[in-house]
Amino acid sequence: MNEIDWSNLSFGYMKTDYNVRSYYKDGKWSTPTETTSEFIDIHMAATCLHYGQEAFEGLKAFKGKDGKARIFRMRDNALRMQSSCHGIMMEELPVEVFEEAVLKAVKLNERFIPPYGSGASLYIRPLLIGLGAQVGVKPATEYLFLVFVTPVGPYFKEGFRPTPVAIFRGYDRAAPLGTGTIKIGGNYAASLVAGHKAHEMGYSAVLYLDAKEKKYLDECGPANFFGIKDNTYITPLSSSILPSITNKSLMLLAEDMGMKVERRQVPEEELSTFEEAGQVGTAAVISPILRVDDVEENKSYVISKDGNAGPISTKLYNKLRGIQLGDEPDTHNWVTVLA
Ligand code: PLP
Ligand code: COI
Repeated sequence: MNEIDWSNLSFGYMKTDYNVRSYYKDGKWSTPTETTSEFIDIHMAATCLHYGQEAFEGLKAFKGKDGKARIFRMRDNALRMQSSCHGIMMEELPVEVFEEAVLKAVKLNERFIPPYGSGASLYIRPLLIGLGAQVGVKPATEYLFLVFVTPVGPYFKEGFRPTPVAIFRGYDRAAPLGTGTIKIGGNYAASLVAGHKAHEMGYSAVLYLDAKEKKYLDECGPANFFGIKDNTYITPLSSSILPSITNKSLMLLAEDMGMKVERRQVPEEELSTFEEAGQVGTAAVISPILRVDDVEENKSYVISKDGNAGPISTKLYNKLRGIQLGDEPDTHNWVTVLA
């Protein structure tokens, strides 16, 4: 293996040694088994290609100071993948198969887990797709579950430096009663045009408004949204956003720190009252928001006055990272330490 420059990794794909696969056929999931192939051979009429039967997850493994690998909240990702299965009628993947495959993929690729102190981590990408020939709009009868891993650096190149985000009124990510709450490829396809436009204009991401009233904050393209004011952590409640595991963790950590937590509708105008705000997710971790521009309305909400991350975001970031790396006690039992 060529030397990896761990401290300068971006968020991208790098070939590792193995990926792990389990097939659903004749009513059974096969034992997760490793392969070195990066390719899959599927039927041209597979439902994942035509009718979007595809769900994925994202979680991370970290190397601690003690040299041990730690995986963050794996069970929560397994459960969310089950909810994605129900949402698009895929065969439900048992939690045990998910966990076995993730553990196997991490162990077999242990040499790709970035060292403690590099700031990087091992991104774990579980994927579930419908296989088998089907031409009518119907769920598949066979499925493939696959887990690959890749070492990554920060999702946004600025890392923990605040970045601007854009509200575009001409795009929705997900419908109010649609698929926004599950992690399926279609939601990300629907976000590509607006995301591309945002990047071209110098924004790190799109901050979507609720699709029905265009009044309340929903979430960002690849992450949930939070705002801070009056010692309170505020995050949108909506029927079209992904239930972020990072956000759920930060809500508990904020409470542990003696803050109030509010999960409720957040009107766009409230942006002018936040002392801090950020995007949160596995890939994004906490990415502080510099400014929100409501582009068509010609309105701008400056969040970070000095261009730096705020004190509460910084404290939350350090606490979360500390738990993930094993520097802080894992009081909520979030971490699986590999033997
Ligand atoms: N929202 C969207 C649309 C995402 O893609 C992600 C990333 O997974 C998140 C939120 C954050 O979720 P999590 O913290 O579980 O990674
Ligand atoms: C994640 O945070 O794991 C994501 O899935 C975000 C993006 C890479 C899709």
